[in-house]
Formats: sequence, structure tokens, C-alpha cells
Amino acid sequence: MCGIVGYAGARPALGVVINGLRRLEYRGYDSAGIAVVDGGLLMEKRAGKLASLEKALAERLAEASANPRPAAGNIASGSTGIGHTRWATHGGPTDRNAHPHRSADGRIAVIHNGIIENFAKLRSDLEGRGVTFLSDTDTECVAHLISAELANVDVESPESPVGARLGEAMRRVCLRLEGAFTLLAVDADAPGVVVGARRNSPLVVGRGRDENFLASDVSAFIEYTREATELGQDQVVTITDDGVTIMDFLGNPADGKEFHIDWDSNAAEKGGYDYFMLKEIAEQPRAIADTLLGRLTETGEVMLDEVRLSDQDLRDVDKIFVVACGTAYHSGLVAKYAIEHWTRIPCEVELASEFRYRDPVLDRSTLVVAISQSGETMDTLMALRHAKEQKARVLAICNTSGSTIPRESDAVLYTRGGPEIAVASTKAFLTQLVACYLVGLHLAQVRGIKYADEVGAVVAQLQEMSGKVDQVLDLMEPVRRLARELADAKSVLFIGRHVGYPVALEGALKLKELAYMHAEGFAAGELKHGPIALIDQGTPVVCVVPSPRGRGVLRDKIISNIQEVRARGARTVVIAEDGDEDVRSYADHLIAVPVTPTLLAPLVTTVPLQVLAAEIATARGHDVDQPRNLAKSVTVE
Ligand code: AGP
Repeated sequence: MCGIVGYAGARPALGVVINGLRRLEYRGYDSAGIAVVDGGLLMEKRAGKLASLEKALAERLAEASANPRPAAGNIASGSTGIGHTRWATHGGPTDRNAHPHRSADGRIAVIHNGIIENFAKLRSDLEGRGVTFLSDTDTECVAHLISAELANVDVESPESPVGARLGEAMRRVCLRLEGAFTLLAVDADAPGVVVGARRNSPLVVGRGRDENFLASDVSAFIEYTREATELGQDQVVTITDDGVTIMDFLGNPADGKEFHIDWDSNAAEKGGYDYFMLKEIAEQPRAIADTLLGRLTETGEVMLDEVRLSDQDLRDVDKIFVVACGTAYHSGLVAKYAIEHWTRIPCEVELASEFRYRDPVLDRSTLVVAISQSGETMDTLMALRHAKEQKARVLAICNTSGSTIPRESDAVLYTRGGPEIAVASTKAFLTQLVACYLVGLHLAQVRGIKYADEVGAVVAQLQEMSGKVDQVLDLMEPVRRLARELADAKSVLFIGRHVGYPVALEGALKLKELAYMHAEGFAAGELKHGPIALIDQGTPVVCVVPSPRGRGVLRDKIISNIQEVRARGARTVVIAEDGDEDVRSYADHLIAVPVTPTLLAPLVTTVPLQVLAAEIATARGHDVDQPRNLAKSVTVE
């Protein structure tokens, strides 16, 4: 949540920071702002999307060129700057609550992602000392505190005495803050210096030639550099054009972990599509193939990316919990079927936000699988930390290198989806499914339940899935037409059984978040225990039907469920395997997907539901990439 960018170098900071914010806007879009150091602190901030800020900046620059004032600094040319795109927590999305926030003396500007939990106390102390607050945010107190602390700091550094002072003031202030935060600050008296700090919220350094960057994630600076440094927990970083200095909150010199970014910089562009989401849906075949690439050793073993666990640790596992949120949770629900089927280890799937509060029974023979696209979701991170405190082992499935969840896990399998910019997860979901299958196979193999050739056979089936998703994508025109017909529906229900149930949940989530319609997913057998009362004449019910070649009982049961809803007036949209002629008579609309092994079917059955949701949202005139009230990366609990 909230996108943060900082720049110190030779280019005009305005362009670099605005470009970065454009790429981070998916993290929050309630308001946006920028501060540039150039002969003082120059700020502009606006409620609304980044476009409002850009408009205000354009007007400001037009006004400045019409009435030049040589003595004043220029927001367009200063080469040190910070910028922020906000998802509101404390204080509504207004101009005055937009970041940056300035200290009362006008010297310090601060931007923030996270929540400072003790801000009320800090604020009342500051007000008691005569400071007047200009916003309702928790962030503003940090600007005042840094400014006050600077008066007490006396640090000598031959390279950058003022920068060292700002870093030290930031460090001392961080010791007084509770909660989760990434902070960036600039000082009007320290051009060329940006200071950052992080606790629990994300911050990465981009290391360029004669320029350095700070950002919530690497997509903000990949067009300038591919070299990055992952900061650790409770660290302060100071960047100038030619240096990056890191210390921990106790003032000890510290190192970050350097890494190379292998994402293509074009991957963060729309590439001719109207929306990122449409592009990301289309990228799914490639994302599946990449996630599978090189996963088998020459002797047929499945490889994870980082393993700080021995095979014996994995052999000792007697219980698995999958923890995740939203779409990632739905991928975990599918994982349960595959993991239990292949490993015979009991596997429970739990919403990360609930996990630690019910005191789950965990010990060193429990494996917790944490799934997160961003690697920063606070609920998932806290569940992971709780698991580690209880001595459980943690394996992360994640899309983002340099993020917190993989760093804190004992083993990691990266999905190779590339940047996912649209708030609604699509390629993240399919690649998470692939990663879950691989984890299940790896566990089965290490425990001697599956031999290399059996694992190889499933991996070969997985490798075919990329082409099958391509086939689904080629057949989406009728789904687009159907979307236009359903755009005025009051409510859409989704039903499925077995792995079709999480697909139903995911289809409903996509529709809720994009189209703002009432949509619910149900285990088809559960419908008659209450929800069937929702069905009225014409209510659309999307039914995910398993393969006729799979478990016959399962299929017969869902066909009965389809008949039950039809008998009550439902308009059925049936997703079924190509060639499954029997279901045709139960379908008002039939969407055929390629023949696929039952456990892998969610990789194809989910895709039409993604397209359906995006098209209904478009038909209803909504912003597909940035749905209201949401943020891509939820870094608060
Ligand atoms: C779904 O479309 C959402 N983007 C959301 O449910 C998301 O999956 C959830 O917030 C978890 O995010 P993560 O994968 O980054 O942890």
C-alpha cells in the first residue's frame, strides 16, 4: 500500500519520480504528491489519481514559464526528490492529507507507507510544544520530529555531513515509532540526499551510475537500473548520487542484500492493451512456462529457488498449513487438493489474517506455506512470523524478489510472472497454482512417495498447460459478448466442487472487485443449505464442471446442482471440458476449455472468469486496473 519513490542523481528528479509513481500507482491512488529540493523545498500534492497531480504540475510549470522568477528554485530542475501515491489510512483522501508532509519550519518533507500506531501520543506531545498540524495523518508527526531531532544531531562525515545528520535524525526518530513504516525524507538544507527507513513495510534501493533510487518496489526504477539492494528490517539508508549508506536502528553499519532484477522493463508497460489486466491475462501462457522453466534437475528432482531446510526437515513434516490472502488464498485452496493427494500429508488452508489469532497448533514438524504475489502482504507476513516463533518451517511462494516474505522464509519458490500491475490478480494466480503443484511434487519426492519419472510425468502435463491457456484465450469472444449481456445483473453466483470450488471463489472475487457487483462463490453442494434462496428468475449462475473423464461422482453431483438452480429460474453459464456434450443441455451459455487432468483444471477454468469480470467492469464503465477502495499490495493489517 502506498507507493514511494526517492531519487538522488543528476537528472531532474521530477521526471524520474513521476515515472516511478506511474508504475507504483497500483499500490494506492487516493492522492499523490512530490517534493523536490532545489534552493529550498518545492512541493505539489493533490487528492485523486496521479493524473490530478500531473495536471497541477503542468499548470505550475506553465505559470512559472509565463512569469519567471530567477531567484526561486525550480521544481522541474531540482535533482533530488521524493514522491508518493497514497492509499488512505489516517485522514481522508484530500489535498492536505496527501503526502509529502512538511515540518513546521518548512525544512523537512516526509512520505510514508504503513501505520504509525503511537502517532496520537506523538502528536499530542508535539502540539503541547506548540507545533501546529496541517493534516490528519499519522505521517506528519515524523516530519516535525525529524526537524526537531536535527538540532540535537552532531555527526561528522567527510562525504556528506548534512546527509549523515539527516540519516541520524531519521534513525533516532524511528526508535520512537511503533507500527509498520517505510519513510523517506529530504531536507531543504541537504540537496543531493534522500534518507529512507523501514520497519515491516517494503523499501528497495536501486543502484545506478551517478544516481541512486529508493522505492517500494523495483518496478519504479527498472527503466534506469537493474541493480538493486534489498534492505533488512529496521534499517536506515542514505542515498546520494554516488553513495548508498545503510545502518541499523541502533546505529551500526549494515549491509543490504544485492540482487539483479531480471524483469523486462517493458513488462511494466501496457504494450498496446487498454488495461494492464488485459495484458496480464494474455501473458499467462508465458508466465506459466517461465515458472516451470528449469525446475527439474537432470535426475528429475524438482528444485526450489532458495532452500535453507534440509531434506530431512521436509521428511519430518507431518502437517502443512497454507496461509495467504485473497486470490493467493484461493490458490492455496487448490494446493490443498494437490498436496494431500500427492504427499498424503494433512494440509489446511487458512486466511492469513485469521491464522495467528486462533493460536494454531504448530511445531518444528509443521510446514507453513506462505503464498504472496507481492511478498509484502502484512497479514501473510505476520502469519509467517507467528509460525516461525512457534518453530514451524516456512516455505514462501512469491513473485517479487527482494521482498520481505521470501527473505524471512526457510525456503522459497519464485513464481516468474513478471510485474503484475493491475490490482486484480490474474497471472499471479495461475503461476501460484503452478508453484503449489511443484511444491507438492517436491515434497512427495523428498518423502519417497513419488519417483522421478512420476514427477516428470506431472511436470510434462504442467508444461502442456501453457498451450492450453493459449487455446482458452483464443476463444474468448463469446465470453466478451456474454459479459455485455450480464453487465446489468444484480448478482452473479459461482458454483464448483473439488478444485472447481476455489475457482468459483476466485471468479466471484474478480467480479466483486472489478465490477462492484454482488457475486458469491459456493461449494456447489452447499447451495441447497441456504444460498439457493438467492436464485431468482434469470439470476446468472456460473458452474465450473469437472472433466467427465475424472471422478464421475463429482461430475454427476454438480450436474444435479445445475439442474436444481435451473429449476429455480437461474441462467446458467457452464464451464466444461471441450467435447463434453452431455452438459450442453444444462447450459444457457457453454464455455468450453481444453481437456485437462482434474487437479490442473483450475489453470484453464479460471481464465474465462478473469475475462468475464474485466469485460463486465468495462461495460459498467469502471477502471479495470484501479478498482475503487483497493490497493495492490496490502501492507497494513
Ligand atoms: C485479488 O485480485 C487481489 N489482488 C488480492 O486479493 C490479493 O491476491 C491479496 O491481497 C494478496 O496479495 P499478495 O498475493 O500480494 O499477498
